[in-house]
Amino acid sequence: MKTRRARPGDAPAIHALIEHYAAEGILLPRTEENVREQARGFLVLEEKGLIAGCVSLEKYGTELAEIRSLAVNTELRGRGLGARLVQYALTEARRRRIARVFAVTHAPEFFVRQGFDTAPRRALPEKIARDCSGCPKARRCRLVAVIAMVIPERAALPILTDAVTSSPAA
Ligand SMILES: CC(C)(COP(=O)(O)OP(=O)(O)OC[C@H]1O[C@@H](n2cnc3c(N)ncnc32)[C@H](O)[C@@H]1OP(=O)(O)O)[C@@H](O)C(=O)NCCC(=O)NCCS
Repeated sequence: MKTRRARPGDAPAIHALIEHYAAEGILLPRTEENVREQARGFLVLEEKGLIAGCVSLEKYGTELAEIRSLAVNTELRGRGLGARLVQYALTEARRRRIARVFAVTHAPEFFVRQGFDTAPRRALPEKIARDCSGCPKARRCRLVAVIAMVIPERAALPILTDAVTSSPAA
């Protein structure tokens, strides 16, 4: 079983995985077209051409990213593959110099085992603004936010935006 970045051609298999759990209300549905367009943000587990699991890493600005659409084939659950995908996503985030990674999930215990801490939703104003504000289920939402510090020394510093970092030195 190998981990790799997804390709647009993986979209049908990734979509099928997500769709299975979306039908159970565990994951948010995504269209195959959306998966294809966002394929560069997906990481997958593959064996002999079959996609066994997937996760997407979606950036919020320069220092924050969200883990979304984490799914392992039902027949392969409980074998460490979900943990492997999350660790791969954290490695990928570190490589991209992303300081913090979060998820909003039905399975916070799983993420805590992977080194995440639970956090109040208000710690993620970017997420609230993007997805929660207009959500009809917002008031009765039971999802839990979890956050991992990927580059702790950077997360502790004031956040410099691209505009600031790219301006000429004074
Ligand atoms: C959640 C999911 C990705 C975990 O993948 P997996 O391959 O079954 O998990 P792993 O075998 O890597 O488990 C790692 C650890 O987390 C625990 N764990 C797994 N699923 C869990 C869950 N839903 N809740 C709490 N703990 C869980 C395991 O017991 C294991 O503990 P251990 O290290 O002490 O043995 C997988 O079950 C799945 O696809 N679920 C449906 C979609 C979903 O819930 N996605 C996450 C929400 S965003």
